[in-house]
Amino acid sequence: MKNFASSLGNKNKFLILGCGFSGSYFAKSIRKLGCIALTSSRSKNKDPNSFVFDSEKNIVPNEKIFDGVTHILSCIPPDKNGNDPVLDSLKSRLKSLSLEWIGYLSTTGVYGNTNGDWVSEIDQPNPLQKRSQKRLNCENEWLKSGLPVQIFRLPGIYGPGRSTFEAIKNKKIRVIDKKDQVFSRIHVGDITNAIIYLLQNKNYLKFHQIINIADDEPCAQIEVIQYCYNLLGLKMPKPIFFEEAKNELSPIARSFWIENRRVSNKLLCKKLGYKLIYRNYREGLKNCFLNI
Ligand SMILES: NC(=O)c1ccc[n+]([C@@H]2O[C@H](COP(=O)([O-])OP(=O)(O)OC[C@H]3O[C@@H](n4cnc5c(N)ncnc54)[C@H](OP(=O)(O)O)[C@@H]3O)[C@@H](O)[C@H]2O)c1
Repeated sequence: MKNFASSLGNKNKFLILGCGFSGSYFAKSIRKLGCIALTSSRSKNKDPNSFVFDSEKNIVPNEKIFDGVTHILSCIPPDKNGNDPVLDSLKSRLKSLSLEWIGYLSTTGVYGNTNGDWVSEIDQPNPLQKRSQKRLNCENEWLKSGLPVQIFRLPGIYGPGRSTFEAIKNKKIRVIDKKDQVFSRIHVGDITNAIIYLLQNKNYLKFHQIINIADDEPCAQIEVIQYCYNLLGLKMPKPIFFEEAKNELSPIARSFWIENRRVSNKLLCKKLGYKLIYRNYREGLKNCFLNI
């Protein structure tokens, strides 16, 4: 593909709402391109580029924060009532701005269970879990908002500082074996890079309002854990079959094992031409291994 990349630079001001794991990775990368990026968290911190936003405590950013904003990325999950914290607190403010783009990080949980079949953006969402129903409602609120939103559906996010290595180190690992069960995943670097790729090429690529960002190789969790133990040169503990382990799992952990799907990235990687940095967990975990 010809490199038509338009520049993202100091004329662009991003607000990253919810600067957790993905948000902070994105903020760092976008600053390297020369953009201004201000980030929110729920408590005050020393970062001069950070401001406080907490929808539950009714703390909203002051007007100055929004001056000249061109792009917004929301990384905030639904609140406990199932509402979108950003739309709930800031919708009219956002509507008063001349925004070029809003990105919303959602989850592939909205697809529900497919018994291991592939799902893509054209499949009708069929959320199984209550939290995924709430998420789908939030997606729909964004779509109805009239704001220039693009939704990114993400599977399990991992990256340096948040991967199976940390689970092993913190003794939080459970090696569970469930026949024919797979999970999709994505390295945080590819979330950031894919979004930047789409923004830089937006004048030349067909706009899609909903896009999955997942790697090429959904697979069993035990395969991933085994790979990490091998890199560490340690012996993996004996696996426990899911049927034996399930009663000891927290409801949230159990809920992940009830769904089984393969998330397709064909729209992003074939149709739109994005090239993954980490095509599978092996490539992604090697990167994490360098940073442990
Ligand atoms: N983790 C995964 O594997 C995964 C998979 C698929 C999709 N997702 C979704 O993708 C998005 C990004 O994920 P992530 O793991 O990078 O998120 P994360 O690290 O958990 O960060 C979430 C951010 O949202 C902020 N936040 C939460 N509730 C808020 C509220 N009521 N008002 C204002 N701010 C609020 C948090 O503030 P503080 O910084 O103050 O905590 C934090 O900055 C989330 O929506 C997540 O649910 C996650």
